[in-house]
Amino acid sequence: MKATQTYSGTIEREIYTREEIAHAIDRLASEIGSDFAGQPLLLLGVLKGALYVVTDLARAIAQTAVRPSEVIVDYICVSSYGNETRSSGEVRLLKDTAETVTGRNVVIVEDIVDNGLTLEYLSALIGERKPAALRTCVLFDKPYHRRVGVRLDYTGLSCPDEFVVGYGLDYQELFRNLPYLAQLQPWVFQSE
Ligand code: PRP
Repeated sequence: MKATQTYSGTIEREIYTREEIAHAIDRLASEIGSDFAGQPLLLLGVLKGALYVVTDLARAIAQTAVRPSEVIVDYICVSSYGNETRSSGEVRLLKDTAETVTGRNVVIVEDIVDNGLTLEYLSALIGERKPAALRTCVLFDKPYHRRVGVRLDYTGLSCPDEFVVGYGLDYQELFRNLPYLAQLQPWVFQSE
């Protein structure tokens, strides 16, 4: 972790660098690759936040020594935060999967788990469709405000109890494209 001041003075500090994130994704890819060695795998990215992690993870799995026989990437889009920094507590399905999940090996890929409601909702939704295997992969685990217990099969990095942006995570749709995880300066969202 290192401190920095960039992006027009809005970033308080850099929490995880691009390299640290890439390293964590490589580790997740190795774990998933060996668990599903020789089997077909469906990576289900949760939009919008998991946009980058699922694409980087899919490419990292393609380079692991032991890997699935095939990897297909699909997306599901849900939202519970809207443009707020706090979850509404209600998860809304905005776009369903394009692929059928029944009988497939599915890994739900999330950028972050915070109160756990989104992952709980998705695990139930996908689980009802009877996949052959269902696992969860989360890049940033923020465990301080869980409202429900969720099973995390693959976890990348621990996230501090701060409002964070970057690598898919947004504040009012901004900052998703930062290649690192960052804490915003408080003034950015103080007027809420
Ligand atoms: C974020 C994030 C997760 C969810 C995690 O999504 O991408 O999907 O919140 O939070 P939880 O564990 O407290 O439920 P958000 O609803 O902000 O939508 P987005 O992915 O489009 O940014």
